[in-house]
Amino acid sequence: MDYLDSRRKSRCAGKIIAAALCITVCIIILKQNQSPTYSSLSLFSQHELGVTHVLVTGGAGYIGSHAALRLLKDSYRVTKVDNLSRGNLGAVKVLQDLFPEPGRLQFIYADLGDAKAVNKIFAENAFDAVMHFAAVAYVGESTMEPLRYYHNITSNTLVVLEAMAAHKVKTLIYSSTCATYGEPVKMPITEQTPQILQCYWV
Ligand SMILES: NC(=O)c1ccc[n+]([C@@H]2O[C@H](COP(=O)([O-])OP(=O)(O)OC[C@H]3O[C@@H](n4cnc5c(N)ncnc54)[C@H](O)[C@@H]3O)[C@@H](O)[C@H]2O)c1
Repeated sequence: MDYLDSRRKSRCAGKIIAAALCITVCIIILKQNQSPTYSSLSLFSQHELGVTHVLVTGGAGYIGSHAALRLLKDSYRVTKVDNLSRGNLGAVKVLQDLFPEPGRLQFIYADLGDAKAVNKIFAENAFDAVMHFAAVAYVGESTMEPLRYYHNITSNTLVVLEAMAAHKVKTLIYSSTCATYGEPVKMPITEQTPQILQCYWV
């Protein structure tokens, strides 16, 4: 009986040691696989001399995609943030394929109305400037759902501005719309051209 017990115990101990070894090996492999991700992430989290890191909000959208392409072509580091309510993830993937090198382009899925998420993005990334294109931008729709438009364009922009102030990011490029000028009687449109105040831009 004692002999059987001790054999069972030693078999059990053997299994525990084998499982512990297996877990250790898995952890080592996982860490090795993760290290490139960490190192490429850290490129976004540190300021680098000669490299300007731009946060492009609404980066999956029409204007954001084109702005990001131009920035990447001109050797900027780009972080796109988008909630994919509009826009197109395919456009993000195209740029990721064109600029696969570490530290060139990253995409973060987030809603700018989520102040906690926005603050985390600013805390984890070293931005030099923000191009703010996240918006809802259909004139017709804006007249049907004005409050959704006001909310996204005003209070969500405020969330971005507050995060910029808190993290000392001082450069903002904000995309307005020439729709504020309606159909001007005289071209080109200048700062003096009168604006109409009817739709989503007010
Ligand atoms: N399309 C034009 O011709 C044009 C011209 C001049 C200015 N603009 C301005 O540029 C801005 C972008 O226009 P667009 O045509 O690229 O629109 P778009 O709908 O193609 O892109 C906007 C992007 O912002 C994202 N987004 C919206 N709300 C968000 C939120 N709360 N959080 C995170 N992401 C959010 C959407 O998912 C979308 O990908 C608007 O302010 C528009 O007025 C557009």
